[in-house]
Formats: sequence, structure tokens, C-alpha cells
Amino acid sequence: MLTGFGNHHASEAIEGALPVGRNSPQEVPFGLYAEQLSGTAFTAPRHENLRSWLYRMRPSASHGAYTPYLGAERLASGPFTEARVSPNRLRWDPIETVGGDFVDSLTSYAGSGTPDAQHGLAVHHYGTDRDMKDRAFVNADGEMLIVPRAGRLSIRTEFGVLDVEPLQIAVIPRGARFSVSLPDGKAQGYICENYGAPFRLPELGPIGSNGLANARDFESPEAEFEDRDVPYEIVQKYLGGLWTVTLDHSPFDVVAWHGNLAPYRYDLRRFNTMGTVSYDHPDPSIFTVLTSPSDTEGTANCDFVIFPPRWMVAEDTFRPPWFHRNIMSEFMGLIHGDYDAKSGGFAPGGASLHNMMSGHGPDAESYRKAVAKDLVPEKIDDTMAFMFESRYPFRPTAWAMETPLLQPDYDACWDGFSKARLP
Ligand SMILES: [Fe+2]
Repeated sequence: MLTGFGNHHASEAIEGALPVGRNSPQEVPFGLYAEQLSGTAFTAPRHENLRSWLYRMRPSASHGAYTPYLGAERLASGPFTEARVSPNRLRWDPIETVGGDFVDSLTSYAGSGTPDAQHGLAVHHYGTDRDMKDRAFVNADGEMLIVPRAGRLSIRTEFGVLDVEPLQIAVIPRGARFSVSLPDGKAQGYICENYGAPFRLPELGPIGSNGLANARDFESPEAEFEDRDVPYEIVQKYLGGLWTVTLDHSPFDVVAWHGNLAPYRYDLRRFNTMGTVSYDHPDPSIFTVLTSPSDTEGTANCDFVIFPPRWMVAEDTFRPPWFHRNIMSEFMGLIHGDYDAKSGGFAPGGASLHNMMSGHGPDAESYRKAVAKDLVPEKIDDTMAFMFESRYPFRPTAWAMETPLLQPDYDACWDGFSKARLP
């Protein structure tokens, strides 16, 4: 694997395939075709500029007309106007059913913004029991942050193969073709489809030059290609719609590539978790793995935040997350274990949504336990929750509001708080 976040990588599956000294020589070695894939405008500032050069057996332009694709019926896209958005806090039981390949299994919970405006995001679930056989997916609308919850994924991309398992994540750039197969026969997980600026590492400020997700732990694949002349379907998501076209060859025919736009994976167990060593519970931004900035400084289109195993040592402090009403909106999922602000009802594979200014925090039982607790150092172990946090409130899909998985009694979490005792 190639290591380092945003590094300029170079990889060739056949020695001598990668042109030296120029991106598009008059003739590429072995008659390969040079093609640039850009992830930012040509004129984006140098430190934000993302692009790679792919050297492939046939140009990706070599295909017929796309026609509408009729699968993936539960996949929704911005603008999310299906359901009336309420200030209610929402929580869903896990989706237990799996069926179809990765693309056809996509089910959308909620989203914001639009692909056209290149801002906002969508949250999907995948629950798949079938390999994508001679089928690839490509998303022109956004980058795909894949968060496996059960089962491994083997993701063949134009850049090479990424294998990921629960507690790892994969990020597929906008416009990169990929195909998912299932070493365990089935798999489930969450996806953030990011319509906005590509995810990057957050600034570290006074933390210094190390910490949180370290750049060296991000891994991109080495070049690996298929030389297969078979009918190969490509399903493309484009401005919310799905389209299909069939090639007469595998699209994974990139023999060499170089550049700083590439799929990558990251193991969440490598996160260098930070917290207080004196008092108070820090803002959860201390747990940001990746951020997609919006045009307003410090105000994310999406922050990908995790709640990993960690020591709690704060003195004279209410240690679980405090009660809050935030301008930012929070979609949460649970990969594994328990979440420390809730004493039940939020199961691995479940999801919750606390939109802008909706009051939430610990349930009454968690609250009572936390205020009575003897504050010795304590390790929260065996847990991995995550949050997609956005400046844009999430608009649930019709499916999300109608599914029996939506818990009708979620508000009851915040019943049973006794009144303060005034002097
Ligand atoms: Fe919250």
C-alpha cells in the first residue's frame, strides 16, 4: 500500500508503464492512454489541488450513451424534499435485512444540499449479499466515505484494490469507478456521500504536528489492472439520477498512475484520541478524523467524528456528553459496542439524528449514573460510534420516516429528570 494522506503517489503494475518526466508524452509506454482525473478545479490553491494521471489500456471516454438505470430504488439524492422536516429527534433500529449487490442495496436515511451546488451530503446504508459481478459504480455527485459495520469489503478501483473491514473506513473520490465484492458473503455499513469539498485532515492548531488521525496511516492502493474483454456494466450516479452503460471491457484497466487524488483507507483503531486530563468534557470536535470544509471558515460541510475507546480521567466533571442544542446537525451511527450517553436503544447498526437546535444529551439513567459516579480513572472500552456532523440540517427521506425501524418512543429518553432542588 502507498502511505500518507494527500501525498503524491506513483505506482505501476508493469515496470516501465509510468512515463518519466512528463504527464502526457507523445506516446505513452506500451501504447497506454494518458488521462487526468481532477478532484478540484485546475486553479485551486496548490495545497488543496487534487488530481491524478491514469495510464490505461483504453480511454475512459470510450463508451456509448448512458440510459436510465432502474435499480437501487431506495437510493435518494439531494435536494431532499420527500418528507416534511420536523424538529424531532429521531432514532432508528438497525437495518437487519441484506439483499442485492452494493449498488442495489443502497438505502438513504437523510441528506442536505444538492450535487448541483456541490454542497451538502447524503447518508446511506448498504446491506449487500452479492458481489458486483462485471459491474462498477461511479459517483459524479460526490465522494463516498464508506464505514463498514459488519463484513469485509474488497473494493476494486481504477487505482487498485482496497480491502476494508469493520473499524476501518474507505474513501472513494468523486468520479472514480469502483466495484465491491464480499469476502464474507455479506456486508453492512454506512456511507457519507459528500457533495462538497473533498475530505481532508483537520487543522491541529495548538495540538501540534502529531495527533488525531496521523497522515502516515492513510493507505492508497498500488496500481493493479484487469485485462478482460467482457461485457462490463457501469452504473453512474449523476445529479441525483442513476444511469447505465455497458462497455466491452473491464474499466479497471489502469496499468500505472501518479498523483494525489486516490482512494484511501484508514484504520479507526489508529486514531490518536485526545481528551481532557483536568476537567470538563471537551467539544466532540476533538475527535474529528476528516473534515469537508464549507466556504465559511471553521464551519464544516461535514466532519467525520468518531467516539473510540478512551480513558476518562476528568475530575469534578460530568463525564458523558453534556446536554446541548447546537447550530450544527448530527447524524450518528454505532459500528460496535455501546455509546456512553445512552443506556440502551442505540444498537450497533442503528442510527440517530439530532438536527440543528434540537435539544439532546444523556438519557435520565445515564445522567443519574454519571452524577453519582466515583470519578476514578476509567476506560471506555469496546466501543466505536461515529458522527457525520454538518452545518446543513439533515432532511430525512420518506423511507426513513416511514420505516418501522424508526423508534416511536425516542423522546422518552429524556423523561424522568427530576426538577432541580432550589434553596
Ligand atoms: Fe449531540
